[in-house]
Amino acid sequence: MKNILVTGGAGYIGSHAILDLIANNYNVVIADNFSNSSPLVIKKLEELSGKTLPFFDVDIRDKNKLTNIFSTFNFDGVINFAGLKAVGESVEEPLSYYNNNVCGMINLLEVMAEYKVFNLVFSSSATVYGIPDTMPLLETNSMGAINPYARTKKIIEEILRDLAQSSDEWKIIALRYFNPLGAHKSGEIGENPNGIPNNLAPYITQVAAGKLDKLYVFGNDYDTPDGTCIRDYVHINDLASGHTAALNTLLKNYNLKNNFEAINLGSGKGYSVFEIIKNFEAVIGRTIPYEIISRRAGDLDVSLADVSKAKRLLGWEPTYSIKEMCADVWRWQEKNPNGYV
Ligand code: NAD
Ligand code: UFG
Repeated sequence: MKNILVTGGAGYIGSHAILDLIANNYNVVIADNFSNSSPLVIKKLEELSGKTLPFFDVDIRDKNKLTNIFSTFNFDGVINFAGLKAVGESVEEPLSYYNNNVCGMINLLEVMAEYKVFNLVFSSSATVYGIPDTMPLLETNSMGAINPYARTKKIIEEILRDLAQSSDEWKIIALRYFNPLGAHKSGEIGENPNGIPNNLAPYITQVAAGKLDKLYVFGNDYDTPDGTCIRDYVHINDLASGHTAALNTLLKNYNLKNNFEAINLGSGKGYSVFEIIKNFEAVIGRTIPYEIISRRAGDLDVSLADVSKAKRLLGWEPTYSIKEMCADVWRWQEKNPNGYV
């Protein structure tokens, strides 16, 4: 069995990916500093997987602690989910985003090189495309990040590309996620935002649960059929299996032309804000109160993935419907009204 270090593994996407990795016979070691997650996630993952999971409370910028982990286990690969991800916060605190995301990644790469662990899957984002002129988005579209968070992802991708060109030992895949939605079918793990959510789905479920009064829809004057923004929502379990597929590709049947590949993970289907509200209303069985307010700065009218590269290189395909995504989020919200407490 292959040993995989999962940094940022206690977070929303990492926790779901870990369950998929374990189901596919990978041994997982978790490192997280809990800056945006709870230690209770580890307990839930152990219950759901029936395994004891080696876990380290570590900041990826701490080289000594990372070195201790790498000297204890023989890793075949690393998945790095560890990063700060709030766009608005990144505008207010750019240095903490560059420090955490970029310096953390460099630090981790240096320790990986020291221990000759050259297989990496990195959490990138559709946000690296900036303001695109064609849709759906292909990996060949130019990058054009428009805020500090997005620039951390773009800079890291550029670092990874340079590294992969410097030596044939490195094998790296950057997965560009579109909009993750959903929760594990058990309803035991899910997205657990701190404070008032920035993102659409957790905001809607908190309105439905009576924790927030109403949803504020950021603009209905976009160039879309109903005037609200269209996004490509992808089920968190599909996203999770994309990481297993990426690791399989790196470790087992390496068929990448280059040592670095950036690959979109989305559903390839777009839904407007109003369509998402309607899907949640159908699942929950009541209306979601909302008010239309002005546009949020930086929002694109449409963001949609072309996922043919993921199909071609990873053998991966999205499988869940938007209805299932909303139903799974709602199950998690109902079972855990206050998140991980
Ligand atoms: P998350 O905040 O739930 O998970 C990130 C995890 O990393 C958290 O558990 C946090 O405590 C940990 N962490 C952060 N900085 C760390 C550090 N320096 N050392 C150790 N641990 C650290 O976020 P998520 O939604 O699971 O996202 C995972 C990754 O995917 C992030 O890099 C994010 O930028 C990227 N991403 C997320 C989305 C999204 O919509 N959720 C979209 C595109 C890309
Ligand atoms: N929206 C609202 N009201 C809200 C929240 C969101 O109307 O309270 C709208 C937004 O305007 C947007 C859509 O719902 O049109 C989706 O917004 P999200 O914040 O859920 O998602 P984004 O597409 O803005 O952002 C996501 C990730 C980012 C990532 C970006 C691009 O959260 O991390 O996709 O990949 F950078």
